[in-house]
Amino acid sequence: MLPVNILFKVSGSIAAYKACHVISRLVQEGHQVQVVCSESALRFVGKATFEGLSGRPVYSGVFEEGNMMSHIHLARWADLVLLCPATANTINQMASGFGTDLLSTLFLAHDWTIPYMIAPAMNHAMLQHPATQASMAKLQSWGVKILDCDQGTLACGEQGEGKLLDPDLILKEVYASIQSKQVAQGKVVLITAGGCTEPIDGVRCISNFSSGATGAKIADEFLLQGAEVIFLHGQKSIVPKQACRKIPFGSFQDLDTQLQTLSKEADIMIHAAAVSDYSVAALELDGLTQGVCDEGKISSGSELTVRFRPNHKIIQRIRDYAQNPDLCLVGFKLTRTISKEERSQAVKRLQDSCNLDLLVHNDLHEINGEEHQSTVYSKEDIEKLCLTKSQLARYLVSKTLTIVKAKKSIALVR
Ligand SMILES: Cc1cc2nc3c(=O)[nH]c(=O)nc-3n(C[C@H](O)[C@H](O)[C@H](O)COP(=O)(O)O)c2cc1C
Repeated sequence: MLPVNILFKVSGSIAAYKACHVISRLVQEGHQVQVVCSESALRFVGKATFEGLSGRPVYSGVFEEGNMMSHIHLARWADLVLLCPATANTINQMASGFGTDLLSTLFLAHDWTIPYMIAPAMNHAMLQHPATQASMAKLQSWGVKILDCDQGTLACGEQGEGKLLDPDLILKEVYASIQSKQVAQGKVVLITAGGCTEPIDGVRCISNFSSGATGAKIADEFLLQGAEVIFLHGQKSIVPKQACRKIPFGSFQDLDTQLQTLSKEADIMIHAAAVSDYSVAALELDGLTQGVCDEGKISSGSELTVRFRPNHKIIQRIRDYAQNPDLCLVGFKLTRTISKEERSQAVKRLQDSCNLDLLVHNDLHEINGEEHQSTVYSKEDIEKLCLTKSQLARYLVSKTLTIVKAKKSIALVR
């Protein structure tokens, strides 16, 4: 199973100690577990235990120094949320839409494209209380998966339903949810990322600043969802964390040649590489013209003039290369201007010249590490504003899969 990011919430039930077993097993399986506790939960199990088991600091307050935005960041980081144990109080708070602590505020910021599971634990009368029953029904209708409670002797000594589900069964539910999430199984996704390098001689080149980080993030998300990913990357590009076919490219020519073959394998193509608009055509050394010397090294000290020739737009040729009428093609447009007019003109130019299913626009002014604002356009309209690379990656996975499905059903009708 591929490792995922699990946001593990604990509320103040006497069953909180059982959460430790679940956390420990998830970490042993290689998953990243971030624990968030209510104030009450910490009266049952201390931060030291949770931190020791998860290997990460434990969050519990909305206003923690240095972590003021964790109610948003953690909600975006997670691939799955588990509230275990879930108290009557927290369940009722969630259903009422209150954001009185970090647990409930995180729920308000929940991204509904990822699973949210709760494992209730409480006295049988608290469980049967109309407020709790109504809240659970409401949460379920919103898409929260509510795990069963066990029957038996409760911590208070009374008999009935309300015990936390056996931790091994909770783990089984989590694993089932992770696996059923792998909605991209059977799909081949070709992702280009990073920058081209245009050689001047055997040791020097001209390149760009592209890091390949966005492409790598998108690749990791597709891998998480079970897709087969071909990651075609620039020489210094960041690569996906998970295993996949990672193929380097060098110059524009090299990228173009490789795409002519690799694009034929793809159901989805995400073209995020920073492709050279120009390649070196000729060099003029002390007034003498010569071609690019791939093997040699131009001696320093001479006056050097580099002549560039413009390259064609690879993105305009992908559909010809791929020979697949159902290919879902996603292009990127990077701008560096604060003018909204200039941005939308650049987007429109690319849309008009390429038959893209989706176009992702971003501007250098709005990129700062993981904080990466981007706007996704479909053929018709603006589809989505994403605030982080992770959010963009998740959105592209679900949207491209929907597009592929729609294309396939149209093809069936044809
Ligand atoms: C010893 C003890 C055990 C408790 N066990 C539970 C429980 O299993 N389930 C529950 O819903 N509340 C339980 N409570 C009550 C909650 O701790 C209380 O409602 C608290 O406000 C819940 O806060 P939280 O939902 O923010 O974590 C227990 C309280 C005590 C003192």
